[in-house]
This record gives sequence, structure tokens and C-alpha cells, in this order.
Amino acid sequence: MFRVREQTWHVEPSGPLRGDIVVRGSKNAVTKHMVAAMLGDTPSVIRNAPEVGDVDITTEMLEALGYRVGRCGGEITIAPADAPLARVPEAFTGLNRIPILMLGPLLHRTGEAFVPLVGGDAIGRRPVDFHLAALRALGAEVKEGPAGITARAARLRGNRIDLPYPSVGATETVLLSAVLAEGQTVLRGAATEPEVVELALFLQRMGARIELSPDRRIVIEGVPRLRGASTRLAGDRIEAFSYLVAGLVTRGEVRVHGCPQDRLVTAITTLAKMGAQFDITEEWISATAPGALRPAAVHTDTHPGFMTDWQQPLMVLFTQAEGLSVLHETVFENRLVYVPALQTMGCEIEVFAACLGGPACRYQDTNAVHSAVIRGVSKLRGAEVTMPDVRAGFSAVLAAAVADRSSVLHGVHHIERGYHRPFEQFSTLGLTIRRAEA
Ligand code: UD1
Repeated sequence: MFRVREQTWHVEPSGPLRGDIVVRGSKNAVTKHMVAAMLGDTPSVIRNAPEVGDVDITTEMLEALGYRVGRCGGEITIAPADAPLARVPEAFTGLNRIPILMLGPLLHRTGEAFVPLVGGDAIGRRPVDFHLAALRALGAEVKEGPAGITARAARLRGNRIDLPYPSVGATETVLLSAVLAEGQTVLRGAATEPEVVELALFLQRMGARIELSPDRRIVIEGVPRLRGASTRLAGDRIEAFSYLVAGLVTRGEVRVHGCPQDRLVTAITTLAKMGAQFDITEEWISATAPGALRPAAVHTDTHPGFMTDWQQPLMVLFTQAEGLSVLHETVFENRLVYVPALQTMGCEIEVFAACLGGPACRYQDTNAVHSAVIRGVSKLRGAEVTMPDVRAGFSAVLAAAVADRSSVLHGVHHIERGYHRPFEQFSTLGLTIRRAEA
């Protein structure tokens, strides 16, 4: 059964980080494709898959349900289960966000489903109410219990569903549930993130009938069966951005291969406004900062805005820009939980419950701490800190890389859940890291 491997990194600041990084397919797409494969009656193949903890967890969940999963390098093959079990074991409670997405596919296969409480990063309440409302709209009887969620439906039926906010996960739940439902589903207020579109394309290869309309509308005509399909995942835009910033913040230069430019358009423009210079080709993107970095005001948003998973590396970059920068997080209400660790490392960051920088957001009249003002240039100190989540973990490594002395970083499993071989990648770029099992 899946066990988190506790690990600590000892990071030695090693000057500018330079070199080439190849990013694999995105963490936020791979596991959803694995869930989609549950719907096919023949095997599916997912190529260019990253080696991340979330894939390990999802593999074990699928195997526990009776699916056969083969993994070889970056290729994952998922073969249908003859008689899949209807319960994701409670041992998977809180490990990631994937079980909730399995409800629809399990209902199609077995008519009933139980999934344990989902986890993922502690970056807000992260409720699943949109997912459950969508499943109910499709005709499932859904009950929430202390250990997890139980659903029943002899057959899901298409319906009109309006999402109150364009949630990535809830859009994926609708896609994964409506493709085999009887009749038409019209989803309004859908997420349009590239990873969502990638999932829709994979389902289309499996035989699904999906129309992506303007204005966040997705129309799905249910079909009676889906076959397996094969695909090559596109590069991870979060990893690509994170390593470009690793080069900039240490005054080096990282060349990132494998992530298309159109996945990074807003990120590139934001960094360019701060003084970064880019070289962009079909194969790779590299960034350098020849002069002083300028401060900026950035608010996170749904696609194609500045992604919420990009703000943590950016926060460290802000500490090395000359002047005051502002960050306004509008997607999750509690995504600045990692700031205390950065403050311990000398980052001059003040957080506020107000909407600073950009338009007022959903958290305007709440006491959610979701804006930050960052003073640069700060001299960062090496320290001993614990990473609270995957993206915050990466920012702690960046702070450690520009600090005045070595740092000890606990909770490395968070980074490994979402980044492909981060220890090897940072080492390739010239960062001195020593690993210790806790
Ligand atoms: C996914 C990504 C995450 C990314 C996020 C936004 C994965 C595994 N994770 O998370 O890296 O930061 O999209 O791009 O793909 N909400 C509700 N009720 C729900 C569902 C969501 O209120 O039922 C709210 C959330 O609390 C949040 C907002 O909607 O405030 C957006 O969340 P969502 O887009 O669903 O994020 P995830 O799919 O969890």
C-alpha cells in the first residue's frame, strides 16, 4: 500500500543555476488521463508521463480497483478491469485529489461507488460541492459520510450543469461522467485550462462526442461505449515556469525543453515586464536577466490568466527585484500558507486580507489572507524549514539557492508528488543538494 517517503534536503547555495531541463507531460493532466482510461473497454497508453508521486498514488488506486497498470519509462498502459471493484480503499484518504474524479467512471462500470475523502495541497477549503452537485444533476444519488462519498446510479443521464466558478476538477468530473451518460449534457462556466482541453481531446480519441464552444460552454453527447486510446502528453507549464525562474532568481540561465510556448504566454510576458529576456524556439525556451529585475503587480486567475501554481516561484523572484511588488491570489483563498517559511529565510513579505493588485476578487469581503506585498532586493538567509505543499516546496528550494548559507528543507515528498525527478533536475543545473531519509 502507498506510503509517503519522508525526506529532507540539505541545499547549499551554489551560484547561478545554468543548463538544460526537459519537462515531461504535466502532473495535472497525467492522472486525469489515467482516470479516463477507466472508461475504455480496451487498453489505453499515455506517453511522456512524468515520474511523480501522484502517478504512483493513482497507479495503486487503479490496481486496488482491479485495473492492470504497466509503467515503463514515460509510458503508462492501463488495461480494463473485468469486474472492477466499486470502492477506492480508505487507505488512500487525503493523498491527492484524484478519487473524486473516479466517481463518474466507477458509476458507469459498477452502478455504485465509494471514494475516500480527497486531499491534495492544503491551500484552502478545497470543497468538492461542485463535483457532487454535477453528479446529482446527472442523476446520481450521492451521500457524504465521515470517511468518504458514496454514489449510486443505474445509469447517468445528461443534463444542464452550471458551475458557479470555472473549477478545473469539477469540469473534469463532468467530462468523465457525461461522456458515457445517456443523452446530452451542456456544461456552462467550464474551466478552459490546457490540461482540461487535453483531457477532452483524449476522451474524443476514445470515441467521446465533445464540443468545446466559446463562453466556457461544453456540450457532450453521451455514447454507449468508449474504447482505449493512446496519446503523448504535452509539457508541464508549471514545471517549465518554475525552472525558468530558477535560472532568473540565481542570475543564471535555464533552457527548458518540451513545453510549448502557448502554454506559457502570460508567464513569459510577466517575466519580460520584470526585465527577463527570452530566447524562444520550437524546441526550447530560455530566460536570462542581464540587468536589475523590476518589481511587478500580478494577480492570479483562471486560464489564460497568470496561473495560481506560478505564484510561489514568482514570490521568491519578487524578493530579488528592486522595489515593492504585489501578488493577489484570486483562485484559492489560502494559497499564501508558505509565506512564513520564506519569511524565516529572510524574504520581506507582508500578507493582507484585502484585494491588492488587480481587480477585487471573490475573497474581497472575507478574512482570507490572499494578497502579499514583497520588498526587494532582500538578502536571503539559509534556514531549516518545512514545505507545506508542492509548489511552495519549489519556492523554498529557490530561496535556499540564493541564500547566504545552507538550508535544511523538510517535507520533500511534496515536491516529488508534482515535479519530475526534482533532485536530479536541480543537480543538473548545478545546485548542491544532499538527500537524507527522515
Ligand atoms: C487544479 C490543479 C491545481 C490548480 C487548480 C487551478 C490538479 C490536480 N490540480 O486543482 O494545481 O491550481 O486546478 O488551476 O489538477 N471549488 C469549489 N468547489 C468545488 C471545486 C472547486 O468551491 O467543488 C473552488 C476551489 O476551492 C478553488 C476554485 O474552485 O477556490 C478552483 O479550484 P479548481 O479549479 O477545482 O482546482 P483543482 O481542480 O482542485
